Amino acid sequence: MPLLELAHLQKSYGPVKALEDLSLEVPEGCLYGLLGPNGAGKTTTLRILATLLAPDQGTVQVAGIDALQDPRSVRCLMGYVAQEVAIDKILTGRELLQLQGDLYHLRPSNRDKRMQELIALLGMQDWIDRRCGTYSGGMRRRLDLASGLLHRPRLLVLDEPTVGLDIESRGAIWQVLRELVQEGTSVLLSSHYLEEVEALADRMAIIDAGRVIAEGTPDELKQRLGGDRVTLRVREFSDQHEAERLQRLLQPVEGVLQIVVNRAQGYSLNLVVEGDHVLQRLRQQLDQAGLPVFALAQSRPSLDDVYLQATGRTLMDAELAVAGQRDTKQERKQSMR
Ligand SMILES: Nc1ncnc2c1ncn2[C@@H]1O[C@H](COP(=O)(O)OP(=O)(O)O)[C@@H](O)[C@H]1O
Ligand SMILES: [Mg+2]
Repeated sequence: MPLLELAHLQKSYGPVKALEDLSLEVPEGCLYGLLGPNGAGKTTTLRILATLLAPDQGTVQVAGIDALQDPRSVRCLMGYVAQEVAIDKILTGRELLQLQGDLYHLRPSNRDKRMQELIALLGMQDWIDRRCGTYSGGMRRRLDLASGLLHRPRLLVLDEPTVGLDIESRGAIWQVLRELVQEGTSVLLSSHYLEEVEALADRMAIIDAGRVIAEGTPDELKQRLGGDRVTLRVREFSDQHEAERLQRLLQPVEGVLQIVVNRAQGYSLNLVVEGDHVLQRLRQQLDQAGLPVFALAQSRPSLDDVYLQATGRTLMDAELAVAGQRDTKQERKQSMR
């Protein structure tokens, strides 16, 4: 039995459909990554799982317990660390953990012992007795993590645990998560950082627009794609017809298996190739057609290629699109003033 089973989840916020039809199984004892761009539905999924939000449709089972029928039992099994937490600024980290322990009904002696363990595990000795108002982002994140772990949950759920953190704090959190999994805690985390999921996840799902578009181990997902990747950008290559013309020109080149037109950022082409000297042949073909090559690079398939294959854009472009929407909204707001 999987530790976690989400089936056919749907959720709308008014007219916005956040989850279309999301199904997911997470086995026990692994670190499971949920990768997707901003707006994909990660937070909505995790909040439903944490019984903080009810889905419109679908079922949630945690260790065989129906989370929608019996949220209390599910909460006992689970620690949930939200994406953005408002921490009290006046209290110290230690006081906050004590408070949290009381909310979980831990006995004070148990609670204090557990706090000592976590303070050591997360390297919080030097600042745990300072007021939270003085903490850096990395310190706050570690404190969040400690509160999620106080009651020794079987499953720890983390929503974008390292967003905005410096590399050192990020590394410290990664290390703790690895240790937790080694000691038998299951971890489910969401992220829009490819490298985070790549570095940590035993298994993963890529989600986009409220659906799972790929699932497996990171290696499986990449291997399923087969072949090497070539990314090609050409100067003065800015409309779809030109992209398609080039696609037709390069398709017959020996070793080219597939060409995906990447619509974002001035239409680049992403090619799947196999065999030796493909780059060389591509260059020749482009030279003959009088098309100057702007950039041409070959690499093993990455998780971003998996995403590109499924959606026709890269994860980074999806992020830029979301940022762009935000910018235009802000501009609109400003121009209305
Ligand atoms: N409280 C809300 N009200 C309206 N729309 C929301 C709300 N929360 C999320 N959304 C929308 O639902 C979609 C999924 O959001 P979310 O689950 O937060 O995605 P992610 O965590 O992957 O960035 C987005 O389009 C987002 O704008
Ligand atoms: Mg989110």
